[in-house]
Amino acid sequence: MALTQDPRWPAVDSFTLSQLHPSSRPNSAALKHALKNSREHGLRDIAVSACEGKFLALQCRMAKVKHALEIGTLGGYNSIWMASENPDLHVTTVELDPKTAEVARENIRFAGLSDRVEVLVGDATKVIETLHAEIEQQKRPRFGFVFIDADMEVNWSFFNPSVELCLPGAAIIVDNIVLGGTIVTEKFLSDKRVAGSRHAVEVAGENPKVDGVVVQMVSSKSYDGILLAVLK
Ligand SMILES: C[S@@+](CC[C@H](N)C(=O)[O-])C[C@H]1O[C@@H](n2cnc3c(N)ncnc32)[C@H](O)[C@@H]1O
Repeated sequence: MALTQDPRWPAVDSFTLSQLHPSSRPNSAALKHALKNSREHGLRDIAVSACEGKFLALQCRMAKVKHALEIGTLGGYNSIWMASENPDLHVTTVELDPKTAEVARENIRFAGLSDRVEVLVGDATKVIETLHAEIEQQKRPRFGFVFIDADMEVNWSFFNPSVELCLPGAAIIVDNIVLGGTIVTEKFLSDKRVAGSRHAVEVAGENPKVDGVVVQMVSSKSYDGILLAVLK
């Protein structure tokens, strides 16, 4: 599945970020370090774009979120965006691969955010079950924001269980939903990632506890988009 790219998209990200988030900002060095250190440890370049990271961080700020959950940590780039832009926010982020989680912890430590970003290692399906039990036992607060960005084939499977971890009015965002428009292109529907992203929209549409919309986005990375669902 080759996704289209247009030179205007990175150029617009670059100009707008230079105005709205110049490199003099306090978190710029930590974010840059997270990308460099992740690359040096062989992690794939599949973190959110800088604009998407800031967008997610501002969503948390707008909704005055105190506890956010991320499914899919990678090198912690997006966790660093969310926590560094919101001094009252605690982020719990889940990573399947222990070595990747260790790189994320290093990056989060470098950013000075280890006290507010918790990296949990394991398959998100199991970790969500544990989080649910802890919430039921009042050992952990409910989340006001969830970002699902682990594996396009199965991100849909984390959606309904995540709803059960959230406060009323919480937002759940699922990444990589549009995939260059392939989710509505007949010849791509058999691709497992495309089918998974399409199914995430169906699952959200069928869940009576949420109201949702898909927002198409272009960025320095690709033409893609997110599913935003808000708990009733
Ligand atoms: C797209 S990357 C996450 C990027 C990160 N959200 C960011 O923007 O900085 C996806 C990550 O999810 C992890 N992952 C894949 N399947 C998972 C699962 N079932 N449970 C937890 N993590 C998973 C992968 O190992 C990978 O590091």
